[in-house]
Amino acid sequence: DGDVYKYYADGEWKKSASGKFVPIINPTTRNTQFKVQACSQEEVNKIIETAKLAQKSWAKTPLWKRAELLHKAAAILKQHKAPIAECLVKEIAKPAKDAVTEVVRSGDLVSYCAEEGVRILGEGKFLVSDSFPGNERTKYCLTSKIPLGVVLAIPPFNYPVNLAVSKIAPALIAGNSIVLKPPTQGAVAALHMVHCFHLAGFPKGLVSCVTGKGSDIGDFLTMHPGVNCISFTGGDTGIAISRKAGMIPLQMELGGKDACIILEDADLDLAAVSIIKGGFSYSGQRCTAVKVVLVMASVADTLVEKVNSKVAKLTVGPPEDDCDITPVVTESSANFIEGLVMDAKQKGATFCQEYKREGNLIWPLLLDNVRPDMRIAWEEPFGPVLPLIRINSVDEGIHHCNASNFGLQGCVFTKDINKAILISDAMETGTVQINSAPARGPDHFPFQGLKDSGIGSQGITNSINMMTKTKSTVINLP
Ligand code: G3H
Repeated sequence: DGDVYKYYADGEWKKSASGKFVPIINPTTRNTQFKVQACSQEEVNKIIETAKLAQKSWAKTPLWKRAELLHKAAAILKQHKAPIAECLVKEIAKPAKDAVTEVVRSGDLVSYCAEEGVRILGEGKFLVSDSFPGNERTKYCLTSKIPLGVVLAIPPFNYPVNLAVSKIAPALIAGNSIVLKPPTQGAVAALHMVHCFHLAGFPKGLVSCVTGKGSDIGDFLTMHPGVNCISFTGGDTGIAISRKAGMIPLQMELGGKDACIILEDADLDLAAVSIIKGGFSYSGQRCTAVKVVLVMASVADTLVEKVNSKVAKLTVGPPEDDCDITPVVTESSANFIEGLVMDAKQKGATFCQEYKREGNLIWPLLLDNVRPDMRIAWEEPFGPVLPLIRINSVDEGIHHCNASNFGLQGCVFTKDINKAILISDAMETGTVQINSAPARGPDHFPFQGLKDSGIGSQGITNSINMMTKTKSTVINLP
């Protein structure tokens, strides 16, 4: 079947012997847009075997050469931004301009990784023994960072390119090999991105990309004894992976319920702009989206008015037209969002706009007067619907934020920096943004979630370090 995209293994594009494919449904047309190979477990075995071998010689390749290849891949990636962005538009309905931004940001991330890797992996430590009680100065310890081996990268649908390279580039610069399992929606964009690494001339087998059904190869990949590290971004599956994976380092980012706390002295215009950007960009399908607004009751009416006037200006329609609000990724996702909205309606939330849906397209909606007994107060819609809770004290806001099982990011709007710092300290989240919406970037900043939001910390430097292990050599003097 010629129109099924091939998977990438051993430096070549291959058809799966399974003869099966996985369809990719365009969220806008709801028709099959692309097909990718449904790889088998035997094919996974082969890929991991090859990755293991390729890694051995890659680890011995000088660091500067590894960096050089990454810089090359970054440049090629940027040259290919248009066709890759087009895939993102068709596969995940990302607005056209944002799709291009994702690819450019990815190229920059790869280059930065190469530079950061050269710096941090070019240094080791030298320790002497006589600082510890009972020792003479007879032991010299030299440490360096060594790779882990085969890194399995599993990015989510919302950034199939960017959240793939944020795992691939740190792994490669540190001397690991990569097995990428892209999300089904976004798989073709990811294959195209992998093609850029192919064109850059990485050794055969060092980078591979396996496509297929999670039910066929998901557990098989994550529980594979040949995998030495897993970097995963996505939903609940991550919790299941962490229970099943072996004794290997895990890096996980599993979503959030990012709270936006607004104090009485806040710049409400700034807060409204940030709520729109934070809550509705890519139709709310970001782990770092603002997912609940907690506003002091005395300023709530003014804030709601400002947000509503901006919601009215959001364009709704196809990603090709670069609309602000585009169809959500799948029909089941749209149904889930609708379920949360209907639950809130039944329990008495105020709808600031009329609820409207056509296929996977859901019009932006602010839900005022949301209460803790509503599902939307706690669950992550991953869609363009935003709950607002009126609070009577800052403590109430902090309490709501901390009662969540998520702890990714949060934000606070106030002109009082002392209050902002105290609130930041009190919020149980990996990051707190003061006077801006939550966001992962700039991509060298540490990025981490507490509680069910994840394991470990990402960001370029942290990811490189996480994908290495310290190795010591001790010189013993007579
Ligand atoms: O969806 C999860 C991403 O890590 C969020 O990244 O803040 O750049 O949209 P972003």
